[in-house]
Amino acid sequence: MRKVIIAGNWKMHKNQAESLTFVQEFKSEVEDTQENQEIVLCAPFTSLTAMSKNLHGSRIMLGAQNIHWSDEGAYTGEISGSMLAEIGVDYIIVGHSERRQYFGDTDQTVNLRLKAAQQYGFKPILCVGETKEQRDAGETEQIIITQLKENLVEVDQSNLVIAYEPIWAIGTGDTCESSEANRVIGIIRQQLDNKNVSIQYGGSVNTKNVDEIMAQPEIDGTLVGGASLSASSFARIVNYQ
Ligand code: PGA
Repeated sequence: MRKVIIAGNWKMHKNQAESLTFVQEFKSEVEDTQENQEIVLCAPFTSLTAMSKNLHGSRIMLGAQNIHWSDEGAYTGEISGSMLAEIGVDYIIVGHSERRQYFGDTDQTVNLRLKAAQQYGFKPILCVGETKEQRDAGETEQIIITQLKENLVEVDQSNLVIAYEPIWAIGTGDTCESSEANRVIGIIRQQLDNKNVSIQYGGSVNTKNVDEIMAQPEIDGTLVGGASLSASSFARIVNYQ
């Protein structure tokens, strides 16, 4: 059975104090979620240690937003798997379009980061998705198939989550039609050797559209940016109906 995974991606939001305030409020609102469901908060590095202590014993899991493939070295601004392991992180977002777009991540470095995450025992959330131009040119399927092919070289599909995030839907309020997200996610699943990989949809998920998105048979969860910043709205998303 595929797991439902609802993950919040805070991006570069919330200092430590704000992160802990969120956790305090959020914890009590998500206690009764179904067994087969994981809840993940992907926070900035500076909040991870404090959150890890605070989330101990709760069913909320912790995620980071990046990982380097070396254990240590002259890589200014990067973070290694052993550093994250010391904190006690469960998930790592890899290949988010903002990393690909603004920080030079390529299909090859995404592949290296994915493998590093798995080597350290983390569960990577691999993000794939097309731009508006690519969609308008009818290239969506091809782009996604290529990303998967290159990103998943030598990656263990038994410890993997994928997020389909059409770039034009991220932070724009322009959600992908749920039936279309379902269709593309079905195509992603066809490419995988392991059909039980949980595949999320991400891109302007909110309290109003989450129920319809989660009703789609291929969609196993959501990766949520803006709407995960408020504890009450993210709790409503986690408690979708
Ligand atoms: P959004 O971001 O929910 O704000 O569109 C999603 C993401 O970037 O993961």
